[in-house]
Amino acid sequence: MNLLNKFVVATLPAVPRPIVRYFANRYIAGEEVVDAFHVVNRLNAKGMTATLDVLGEDIHEREEALGARDNIIEVLKSISQERIESNVSIKLTQLGLKLDKNFCLDNARMIVSTAHALENFVRIDMEDSTCTEDTLRIYGRLGKEFDNVGIVLQAYLRRTEEDAKALIRDGFKNFRLCKGIYVEPEAIAYKKKDEINGNFIRVLKLMLQNKTYVGIATHDDALIDAASRMIAEMHLERSQYEFQMLLGVRSELRAEVLRAGHRLRVYVPFGKHWYQYSLRRFKENPQVAAYVFKALFDRHHSKLNTHPGKNHKGDGNG
Ligand code: FDA
Repeated sequence: MNLLNKFVVATLPAVPRPIVRYFANRYIAGEEVVDAFHVVNRLNAKGMTATLDVLGEDIHEREEALGARDNIIEVLKSISQERIESNVSIKLTQLGLKLDKNFCLDNARMIVSTAHALENFVRIDMEDSTCTEDTLRIYGRLGKEFDNVGIVLQAYLRRTEEDAKALIRDGFKNFRLCKGIYVEPEAIAYKKKDEINGNFIRVLKLMLQNKTYVGIATHDDALIDAASRMIAEMHLERSQYEFQMLLGVRSELRAEVLRAGHRLRVYVPFGKHWYQYSLRRFKENPQVAAYVFKALFDRHHSKLNTHPGKNHKGDGNG
């Protein structure tokens, strides 16, 4: 990230929320489940599946965790009723990981068990490194009880290759592999792009060679090319893996991936707690500074519609 982008991202917390929201709209489907289903329907119509994320993380009260759990369960039921092609992604800190690990496990178990009854699937997102060990432990428990749950591993963590080996050895077979988005110390995380990409490719190879199912979650051309070559060399069926991308990021690339014959799932976040997620997305957007300055200094910027839910490009094109 260049200095200007870093500066803009660092100053975003001082920017009024409606303005941040304006820029966040491309990454978020909306605040209500109906907004999210609208987006998923459009993705499905274009041959893509989705994973729905009811936004929220790092809650402080047990009631919030129970509320989040119940919301996610309702979403699973609605997915089934509306027959849309989507699973769900969950964050354990939203379910009380930092309050009480057993309480969090129970909440997650209720979600996975509901998904199981509805023949759906739950992906456990990976959060910052203070959560890695506990997240893996909870996944270890749930993954032994249910076959419809998977975990995320982050290629930037130095430990990830060993984690992948251990999980594979223990019989776990469903992964999402991404680079990782949280700011981590160099002692535990690769910092250089070529090191992160090198580890991504190494771990992906390990996963695919061991016939696990991998959600290859990236918008990086180099990684998509490397993964495509690996898939061809290993003669994998398209049912053995999928590519995954985030709503609002490089939508033009989705069409290419589909045209090449791969399956593609889009991560569709929605809900009222959009702020933290959006800041992480801004951090990665190479053009964030250009967008922000353009909008702020544009003669017509008074026309910006800052009403939540309007202006969003999170419609499957964004
Ligand atoms: P990279 O960051 O190099 O981006 C490649 C290109 O994509 C950029 O050059 C740019 O063109 C474009 N791009 C990327 N981000 C953009 C943005 N926000 N706005 C505009 N353009 C952008 N992380 C994590 O720690 N835990 C998790 O559980 C998940 N889950 C997850 C699910 C899915 C489906 C995806 C795709 C990603 C995640 N991530 C995640 C995030 C992931 O770790 C990573 O931060 C982003 O995917 C960006 O990394 P890329 O591999 O795309 O490469």
